[in-house]
Amino acid sequence: MLSRSTKNLVRKMTLPSLVESRRPTTSPDIDPSTLSNYQQFQIQKTTLNLEVSFDQRIINGSVLYQLRSLQAQEEATNRLCLDTSYLQIHNVTLGGSKNLQWELKPRQEPLGSQLVLEYSKDKNEEHSLQIDFSTTERCTALQWLSGKQTSGKPYVFSQLEAIHARSLFPCFDTPSVKSVITANIASRYPVVFSGRIAADPSDGQNGNKIYHFEQPVPIPFYLIGIASGDLESAPIGPRSSVYTEPFRLKDAQWEFDGDVEKFIQAAEKIVFPYEWGTYDVLINVDSYPYGGMESPNMTFATPTLIAHDKSNIDVIAHELAHSWSGNLVTNCSWNHFWLNEGWTVYLERRIVGALHGEPARHLSALIGWNDLSESINAMSDPERFSKLLQDLGTKGDPDEAFSSVPYEKGFNLLFHLENKLGGPENFDPFVKHYFQKFAKQSLDTYQFLDTLYEFYQDKREILDSVDWETWLYKPGMPPKPKFDTSLADDVYELAGKWFKAAQSGDYNGFTPDDLNKVSTVQLVLFLDTLVQSENSVDWSKHADAARHLLEIYHEKVVNSQNAEIVFRKFRFQVESRIEGSYKELAQWLGTVGRMKFVRPGFRLLNKVDRPLALETFQELKDTYHPICKALVKQDLGLS
Ligand code: BES
Ligand code: ZN
Repeated sequence: MLSRSTKNLVRKMTLPSLVESRRPTTSPDIDPSTLSNYQQFQIQKTTLNLEVSFDQRIINGSVLYQLRSLQAQEEATNRLCLDTSYLQIHNVTLGGSKNLQWELKPRQEPLGSQLVLEYSKDKNEEHSLQIDFSTTERCTALQWLSGKQTSGKPYVFSQLEAIHARSLFPCFDTPSVKSVITANIASRYPVVFSGRIAADPSDGQNGNKIYHFEQPVPIPFYLIGIASGDLESAPIGPRSSVYTEPFRLKDAQWEFDGDVEKFIQAAEKIVFPYEWGTYDVLINVDSYPYGGMESPNMTFATPTLIAHDKSNIDVIAHELAHSWSGNLVTNCSWNHFWLNEGWTVYLERRIVGALHGEPARHLSALIGWNDLSESINAMSDPERFSKLLQDLGTKGDPDEAFSSVPYEKGFNLLFHLENKLGGPENFDPFVKHYFQKFAKQSLDTYQFLDTLYEFYQDKREILDSVDWETWLYKPGMPPKPKFDTSLADDVYELAGKWFKAAQSGDYNGFTPDDLNKVSTVQLVLFLDTLVQSENSVDWSKHADAARHLLEIYHEKVVNSQNAEIVFRKFRFQVESRIEGSYKELAQWLGTVGRMKFVRPGFRLLNKVDRPLALETFQELKDTYHPICKALVKQDLGLS
């Protein structure tokens, strides 16, 4: 048998030298975005006992850890450091009775305040530690809504990815640490949680009910999701329900009914059976800042998914795919975020391909390619943020580094590998192997590469011919793969005709029927192509043509309820300097909270009418989620 060091040596020889030379010294890589000493402890189990106080707008409670110290026995005291952010700590007890002193270190942006505890325990000795705490007004993990902002009852929801779990409870706030979780949550209103329902609600104090949950699969804390409000549920599949406020329940049920189960079965064929039991969806409130969040067992989603024509359900395919990529197999730090999101986009598109055919998968990839290009063009610091492998350090804020890059560059790398290795049939055995091998673990990019090289030992030349330097470390667009454009060609042709018409001023020959056979996804590509194609015109000089286009396609474009279309319509109008649209865009920004639309929406407005952008932000800022508010503020140059 090889000794440990020789094994490392052998492995060190495996990857191309330019990649090896960048391999971190620790495997998996260390997470720079935590102030905890997570490497020195192992959590056996986490219990959250929480109480939601709508009156005070705080969550009160305790977290109980069953832990083992991995520190050497000769050290007299163990030091346990946890992440916190704007939390109030009330009490710390060891082993159920012994009160411990604690120290909360000064805040360090953007990571928060380290909570330091000292006590002595032998190496590997299991012990329990309880911390009583409350959240505060400055909590970045929760958004509280009054009854006026909902259908009448107060509401709260959490959003913890990437580093906001520390603002909900003291923890090892790193994707490197996983734990099974029990949660007992008291509230006046129904509660949903990222786990299975463990028992019927029991009676609590002050008119509260206590809701009981279990998450028996170990998960990192950023995946915890809690929401409470006037929630009801309706079935959408044999293992799935949708939860939402009663006024949206019927629409939500109609939008998702039947499709979720098809997605699950398609994903199970590509990877392996779904391990989490139930798969439910929470349709959150309007101000929900993301399209979706993959809280295990309970995807959180934006109400903008309810498009009344099932045209936005790909987002559910994406969040479901996280049940394998991200939730079972997790990036060990946010520098390797592409392992979560790139893989998830890859699986999402494989699900689309399985259900609607390869051309549909490629169409989705084409739209992703345009997104990537637009996102890199709009970056404040593309040199830094457009690399696949990020280098956040302790000063970097994952919320600020967030972009399409981990999603789309990550997807394109996997798609490139799939092509090079002989297409899905030849890539699928690796997909299964990878998810099996790293299930319930957290890994870095180098472990992914090691596994890839190990798996395709006999195809080493193919792997060595990948331009790893460009894919992994260089900023900017990656090499463009060949996409099947069979579902895109008609749309490209139509856009081309409009470029000509804009120049000639002759709009005869266009009719609403041009879009008759065009699906919503194709319409998205059409609207992207209008403004992004190399052959496009400067619409600000052809506003007349733009007006004609919007009039002819009024029904499908202007009357659309689908946020993906509505946003692109505004973008087209703003690019064409159709001034009447600015106010409408400002109004629309008061109806959506999803950052994917809110941030570029404000950027557009700012470009053409800064006073209106500032005035609109002033008016709406407190209706947005705290993260969204902070990022738009930054985008507008106000912080
Ligand atoms: N995990 C992400 C959302 C996220 C990422 C929240 C980073 C906080 C920090 C989720 O799975 C996601 O990617 N959502 C997308 C939808 C998707 C179809 C690409 C979104 O919100 O737009
Ligand atoms: Zn995702």
